[in-house]
Amino acid sequence: MKHFIHDKIEKLRQQRNAVILTHNYQRPEIQDIADHVGDSLELARISKTLDCETIVFCGVHFMAETAKIMNPDKTVLMPDLHAGCPMADMITPNKLLLEKHKYPNAAVVTYINSTASVKALSDICCTSANGVEIVRSIERSEIIFTPDKYLGSYIKGQVPDKTFYLWNGYCPTHMVFTREHLLDLKEEYPGAEILVHPECRVEVQECADAICSTSQMIRHAQKSSAQAFIICTEVGMLYRLKKENPSKTFIPGDANAICPNMKLTTLEKVLWSLEDNEYQVAIDDNIRDQALQAIERMIAL
Ligand code: 13P
Ligand code: SF4
Repeated sequence: MKHFIHDKIEKLRQQRNAVILTHNYQRPEIQDIADHVGDSLELARISKTLDCETIVFCGVHFMAETAKIMNPDKTVLMPDLHAGCPMADMITPNKLLLEKHKYPNAAVVTYINSTASVKALSDICCTSANGVEIVRSIERSEIIFTPDKYLGSYIKGQVPDKTFYLWNGYCPTHMVFTREHLLDLKEEYPGAEILVHPECRVEVQECADAICSTSQMIRHAQKSSAQAFIICTEVGMLYRLKKENPSKTFIPGDANAICPNMKLTTLEKVLWSLEDNEYQVAIDDNIRDQALQAIERMIAL
């Protein structure tokens, strides 16, 4: 059955001239069929370099939408259209307009985990991999940061000369990590380094040996002399960490850190997506043009 699905996906991928892009949190079997696996920034960059007609995006909606914004002439497919991101939905364009009205001199920096309409009202986007550099590059001294207050707090700590207005958004999956549990794990694995995604709470960030985007965790684990790592991000990450560092040990900072949206994509749905050319991501042209500017400013840096 497994081989049957793989063969069909492969045949359709060739017929449709399609490329499969997969986020680091996806199920192992979806990572294994991908042309590229990466973090949000890598996948956005790669999407722009592809010589294909169709992108099958295995991740969540804002990621596929970003690929569509950057590649309007390509068909961008999501195997499950319900794979959203609750953090991205914690701010709406109207709420952002009110915030901009409140702080008219502030530059709006929006995390890539956001809808196209919110990006369209922003000066520049950032990801967890480049947020600090992006904010440092901005001339204005006031920053409205949306929607993740924890990534915003991390950047604020690294760029103390600016004034931040942090939107009150967060990722429910990354809320499960606690300082207490990490201290217990550290006692159990005294030599292990703690790697923390900046979507985690500040008290968890404070326990970190390194704060990293998902792909930065892989590079950190490769370079570090440590043999064990406690990983504070979605558990899907452990598959790639183990695959690329087979001699090292990876311990979940909390085994319950599961993003249900990321897990909606299955091999069967990838197959149906290629068979039916569904579900196509579509964006209004005006919104797309404005959102593209915010993304291109980020990519240029
Ligand atoms: P990365 O850009 O680090 O892959 O993070 C995306 C994300 O959704 C984290 O929850
Ligand atoms: Fe969104 Fe959190 Fe899932 Fe990342 S892990 S896609 S931020 S809900």
